[in-house]
Amino acid sequence: HFAPLQKTVASPGRGILAIDESSATCGKRLASIGLDNTEVNRQAYRQLLLTTAGLGEYISGAILFEETLYQSTTDGKTFVDVLKDQNIMPGIKVDKGLVPLPGSNNESWCQGLDGLASRCAEYYKQGARFAKWRTVVSIPCGPTALAVKEAAWGLARYAAIAQDNGLVPIVEPEILLDGDHGIERTLEVAEKVWSEVFFYLAENNVLFEGILLKPSMVTPGAEHKEKASPEAIAKNTLTMLRRRVPPAVPGIMFLSGGQSELEATMNLNAMNQSANPWHVSFSYARALQNSVLKTWQGQPENIEAAQKALLVRAKANSLAQLGSYTGEGESDEAKKGMFQKGYTY
Ligand code: 13P
Repeated sequence: HFAPLQKTVASPGRGILAIDESSATCGKRLASIGLDNTEVNRQAYRQLLLTTAGLGEYISGAILFEETLYQSTTDGKTFVDVLKDQNIMPGIKVDKGLVPLPGSNNESWCQGLDGLASRCAEYYKQGARFAKWRTVVSIPCGPTALAVKEAAWGLARYAAIAQDNGLVPIVEPEILLDGDHGIERTLEVAEKVWSEVFFYLAENNVLFEGILLKPSMVTPGAEHKEKASPEAIAKNTLTMLRRRVPPAVPGIMFLSGGQSELEATMNLNAMNQSANPWHVSFSYARALQNSVLKTWQGQPENIEAAQKALLVRAKANSLAQLGSYTGEGESDEAKKGMFQKGYTY
């Protein structure tokens, strides 16, 4: 059942466009260019992104928020149909966001298991074929054993329920960039988190061939004194993945997590310099959207230029998936970091 889908989502030279910001988070994106957070503005922004001609050459899947899954373009074509015509698989964010985790060290847990089976069934009917659940782990807060266990268990329960309703689950325990720790500490925490995630995935009888992972790259904390090279990030990240992720898993689709557009692309490229047991690609939100938003500014006359900016990023990451990105001709905007301390989605 899941095999044809994976061939599409994890296909060479393509990755995922994450535009599943909740309405509140989409409001932050719009506010950054002075737009009000109205349904009309959210529709206009998603329409700009999804109707970009030729996007399907570089993008295999798009993660949507519920509102977008049921929304249409201003011409009345459903976004699901827009995606199908672009050969892009529609996906859906199914978690209900983060709340404080009592008994922890100021950490969070991810809500959304109640009613999840019936929501997944409805999303499938509406055209979604994969799902996403994002929970977070904070290194400076510990992480406590409780927070890691809760994150792993929640992801595993979600994955089992999504598969049971025909959706391929993207498993995303985001290890936040926050902190001044070195890369070795991130490696250690990532190994711990992924070992628990796979332990509970197995305990919940999740089919490993029918999931996708959305890990953070293994980098130093954003406030660490030194930056790491793409080669060092690739080495540590691949070491962690090889130690923890069975080759039965078809695809690794990284998040960008506050890296600049350029960093996210260069790091992905470094990871594809030799063959990997899994498809190693991208599922970026911020690192695909930043220069698009800056170019658009909410002005109809800028739509074309903004769509070009999206294609530039999508193509760069497509090349990085193939390991053949050179970094030539990148704009200054693409080099700007997007890390914000304590950022919440
Ligand atoms: P970023 O690439 O902005 O970290 O987004 C990841 C994500 O989970 C959104 O779907």
